[in-house]
Amino acid sequence: MIPTVKEDPADAESISHKLMMRSGLIRKLAAGTYNYLPLGMRILNKTMNIVRQEMDRAGALEVLLPALLPPEPWEQTGRLKDFGDNMFKVIDRTGKLNVLGPTHEEIITSLVANEISSYRQLPVTLYQIQTKFRDELRPRFGIIRSKEFLMMDAYSFHTDGASLDQSYKKMYDAYCRIFDRCKLPYKIIEADPGLMGGSGSHEFTCPSPAGEDLFVTCTNCSYSSNPDLATIKMPDAGCRIPDKDMKPLKEVATPGKSTIEALAGFLNAQPSQMVKTMICNTSKGPVAALVRGDYELNLSKLAKLLNSAVMELADEKTIAKVTGGPVGFSGPVGLKNIPIIADYSVLGLVDFITGANKLDAHLLNTNINRDFKIDQSADIRMITDKDNCPSCGKPGLKILNGIELGHIFKLGTKYSKALNAQFLDEKGARAPIIMGCYGIGINRIIAAAIENSFDANGIIWAEALAPYQVLIISINTSDKGIFQASQDIYDGLTSRGIEALWDDREVSPGIKFKDADLLGVPLIVTIGKGLKDNKVDLKYRASGKKESILLDSAVEYIAKACSV
Ligand SMILES: Nc1ncnc2c1ncn2[C@@H]1O[C@H](COP(=O)(O)OP(=O)(O)O)[C@@H](O)[C@H]1O
Ligand SMILES: [Mg+2]
Ligand SMILES: [Zn+2]
Repeated sequence: MIPTVKEDPADAESISHKLMMRSGLIRKLAAGTYNYLPLGMRILNKTMNIVRQEMDRAGALEVLLPALLPPEPWEQTGRLKDFGDNMFKVIDRTGKLNVLGPTHEEIITSLVANEISSYRQLPVTLYQIQTKFRDELRPRFGIIRSKEFLMMDAYSFHTDGASLDQSYKKMYDAYCRIFDRCKLPYKIIEADPGLMGGSGSHEFTCPSPAGEDLFVTCTNCSYSSNPDLATIKMPDAGCRIPDKDMKPLKEVATPGKSTIEALAGFLNAQPSQMVKTMICNTSKGPVAALVRGDYELNLSKLAKLLNSAVMELADEKTIAKVTGGPVGFSGPVGLKNIPIIADYSVLGLVDFITGANKLDAHLLNTNINRDFKIDQSADIRMITDKDNCPSCGKPGLKILNGIELGHIFKLGTKYSKALNAQFLDEKGARAPIIMGCYGIGINRIIAAAIENSFDANGIIWAEALAPYQVLIISINTSDKGIFQASQDIYDGLTSRGIEALWDDREVSPGIKFKDADLLGVPLIVTIGKGLKDNKVDLKYRASGKKESILLDSAVEYIAKACSV
C-alpha cells in the first residue's frame, strides 16, 4: 500500500504536495482534507513522537480534549463571532449548536477553572496532540493549509508574569529542539498576538518559497519580524515643501488606466509620484487610506491604528457610494464624510497624481492641504527591502516567504477573565490565572521538511522523520538465493529494532530503484548480482554515496550505519 505515481498530479501546487502524492503518503479526500496512507502515517507518528518527547522534557503534561465542543465558552470570550465562518458548526439531534475546535484556549481554560483553585497548584503546562478544524477560505498546498489538521497545542497557567516568562522560555527552547531534530531551518519571528490577545508572541517559520507567510529579516542584525509589526519611522524630511512651489491642479483623461503600472506608462510618470487611495471597511464605517504609488497598504497596521476588528478593502458598491467613482480611480480630492488617513510616505510629496473619483480620469499636481485635508498620518504601509532595518537602522532587509510551523503567545488574562479561571494567592485573595499558549502544526512539519529536502528524483528524508531507516531491494524475488539473503537481512535488522522496508514486489529493478529515490528512505540496500561474490550494495539517498559490503557482516554494518 505504497501507491507511487510517476507524474505530478495536476492540482498539486507545491513541491511537497506533489511529492507526498507521488510517493503515496497522502491522498486527497475533498478540498482541504487528506487520507494518510501507511507510509504517511509512519511519518506523522515520527513527528508526533519528537514533539511529545520535547514537550514532556519541558515539563508539560499530555491531555486530550474533545474536538466536538459546546459553543458557550466561545460565546463568553467573544471568539464565536471573531472566528466567524472559519469555525465549523454542527447541529446535534436536539437542535443544539456545537462547534469543531479550531484551537482550544476556551476549553482548557474552562477545565482549569474547575480543577485549579490555589497558587500551590501553579504553574502547570498542559498539552495535547489533537485534530483541529478550520473552515479555511483558501485551503492550499496540500497539507500546508488544510481544513482538518493535527496540532500540538499547549497551555500554561501562572500566578504571575515572571512565572509565565519562565514557561514561555521553556517552550521556546523546546520548539528549537523539535525543529533542530527534524533538521528544519527556521527563523524565530516577532509576531502579532492578534486574535489571541496578550502581550508577546513569536512565530517559528521555515523560510520557503512555498510559504504563504511573509517575514522581514535583517542581514546586519538579528531582527526578524512579521511585516505587520515592522514599524517604519516618519521620514526625517517628512514634511512638505512650501506651498508656493505648487503647480495648478489639473484633470487629465486616463482611459482604462486603473492600475499604477498602466498609469505610469500612460502618463510617463514614476509610481513614487503617485498616491493610491484605498477605501477600506472598518467597524466604524469606511475610511480612505493613502499610500505612495510604489508602496502597498498594510491592512493590519491600519486595523491596529484604528482599533478596528473589521478591516478589508471595500467592494465596488461601497467605493461608488463613498467616492462617486469606480474602482481604480479613487482619490482624496472632494471626498466627504470619510476619514482620510495618509501613510508617512505621502507627506513629503508635492504635485502628485491621484484618481479623480471619475471613470477614466486622474488629477495632476495634487497637494495636501491646498486640495484636500488629511485626518491623520501614520505608518500604514508594507515595509520593503529598500527600507532601513527597524532595529539597527541600516539597509539590508530581506522580505521572504515562509511556512509558519509553530507559534507561541503570552496570553495574559484574556481567557481566564472571560471564563472565570481564578486562583487564591498566599494571602487568600482571588486573582485571574495568567496564561500562555503554544501551537505546532504537525502536518506542516512534514510538508516543510520535504520543501527543504528533495531532488529531481524525490524526497530526501532526514533520519528523524524518515518512514523507515532502511529500504531493502531484492532485484529478483523468484531467485531463491536473493530471496533468502533479503529475508535474512530484513529479519536481522528488524530484530535489532531497525525499521526496514523490504521491496519484494515482482516488478523490474528499474521501477524499484526509481521508487526508492522517490520515497527518500536514507539507506538503500540492494541484493542482486553482487550475491555471487557474497556482496550486497548500499546507497545513501542524501549523498548518493555507494558501497559494496560483505553479505555475512551486512546486518552489523547496516545497523552501525543507522545508529550514527
Ligand atoms: N489550516 C492549517 N493547516 C495546517 N496547519 C495549520 C493550519 N492552521 C494552522 N496550522 C498550524 O498550527 C499552528 C498554530 O496555529 P495558529 O498560530 O493558531 O494558526 P494561524 O497563524 O494560521 O492562525 C500554526 O503555526 C501552523 O503550524
Ligand atoms: Mg499563527
Ligand atoms: Zn538590522
